[in-house]
Amino acid sequence: MLSITANIINKMPVFAPKKLICPITFLLLLTIQRSQAVLNDHYYDETCTQAEKIILDTVRNASMHDPKVPARILRMFFHDCFIRGCDASLLLDSTPENKAEKDGPPNISVRSFYVIDDAKAKLEMACPHTVSCADIIAVAARDVVTMEGKDGRVSKAAETINLPAPSFNVSQLIQSFSKRGLGVKDLVALSGGHTLGFSHCSSFEARLRNFSKVHNTDPSMNVDLGQNLKKKCPKPNKDRNAGEFLDSTSSTFDNNYYKQLMVGKGVFGSDQSLFGDYRTRWIVESFARDQGLFFREFVASMVKLGNVGVIENGEVRLKCRVLN
Ligand SMILES: *[C@@H]1O[C@H](CO)[C@@H](O)[C@H](O)[C@H]1NC(C)=O
Ligand SMILES: *[C@@H]1O[C@H](CO)[C@@H](O)[C@H](O)[C@H]1NC(C)=O
Ligand SMILES: *[C@@H]1O[C@H](CO)[C@@H](O)[C@H](O)[C@H]1NC(C)=O
Ligand SMILES: *[C@@H]1O[C@H](CO)[C@@H](O)[C@H](O)[C@H]1NC(C)=O
Repeated sequence: MLSITANIINKMPVFAPKKLICPITFLLLLTIQRSQAVLNDHYYDETCTQAEKIILDTVRNASMHDPKVPARILRMFFHDCFIRGCDASLLLDSTPENKAEKDGPPNISVRSFYVIDDAKAKLEMACPHTVSCADIIAVAARDVVTMEGKDGRVSKAAETINLPAPSFNVSQLIQSFSKRGLGVKDLVALSGGHTLGFSHCSSFEARLRNFSKVHNTDPSMNVDLGQNLKKKCPKPNKDRNAGEFLDSTSSTFDNNYYKQLMVGKGVFGSDQSLFGDYRTRWIVESFARDQGLFFREFVASMVKLGNVGVIENGEVRLKCRVLN
């Protein structure tokens, strides 16, 4: 990762962070600016010309066969970076001595690791020992953000892009982000990743029935949404895959997620709480008003997320699932 990343920084026209950053930063920048000059500056050019194409082909092919892949890849990126920095530690399999991140509780919804494994296998054939697993996740995540919206391949995206717990209140969210050096604006901007999300019933059903002593349903939830979710998540529920999209336009990376929060249509308690608290409400309102502002702040917060605990002496793994 290091040589590649250093190369990006040299070419970065807008951001000049002091620390190393994940390539997603640069790549999201491309997504949003679409500047020809920047596009020509592919950072693999010197080390592995085919790298980007190999990753994109693999991700696109996998997404065509399984529309859940894009949201899962974006979620993979968030989880990886949030837990130990963007070091692809999420990809490591457990060993008898070590229970890996993958097998921690949120594991249930991070899937589709095979896509990264496939890309890695092809890259090892093309350019041995060059492209790190963390870079593959980052490029793949960039790709899903750009490819959806164009042709709606995420239209049935499953799995949430789930930062902390969906039941957290604003104070808990702010605390969890601040431990990683991320502020209130980052919290609201990165939560916007839920624009591509889907959740199983278990992550929000506590809001639907017996919510509190005085309210059967969470009073911050829009009444129509509550009725709709009760139908989708009956009790008892035989359908293990039942759930709801976190944004009604879940095939498009847009600011609709914030507009929904303003009318009580956040699916997670944690999402809706962003509109219920004075510290975050004004940011939700400003992103709902101005999609361009959301895009810019999303990128800026991804830069910061990419900086969370970056390791400076990482290795380029031969297989993403095992240390060399
Ligand atoms: C495309 O994806 C399918 C399903 O995952 C897989 O079986 C196939 O080998 C892939 N093709 C290429 C060229 O990667
Ligand atoms: C985590 O995921 C792996 C592979 O997808 C699965 O085999 C394992 O049982 C999961 N662990 C938990 C705790 O759900
Ligand atoms: C948030 O949740 C924590 C833990 O349940 C609780 O102690 C705290 O009072 C809550 N804060 C707000 C503002 O609701
Ligand atoms: C609500 O909680 C009460 C007491 O805990 C329980 O008896 C009742 O069955 C619950 N109702 C529903 C709809 O889950």
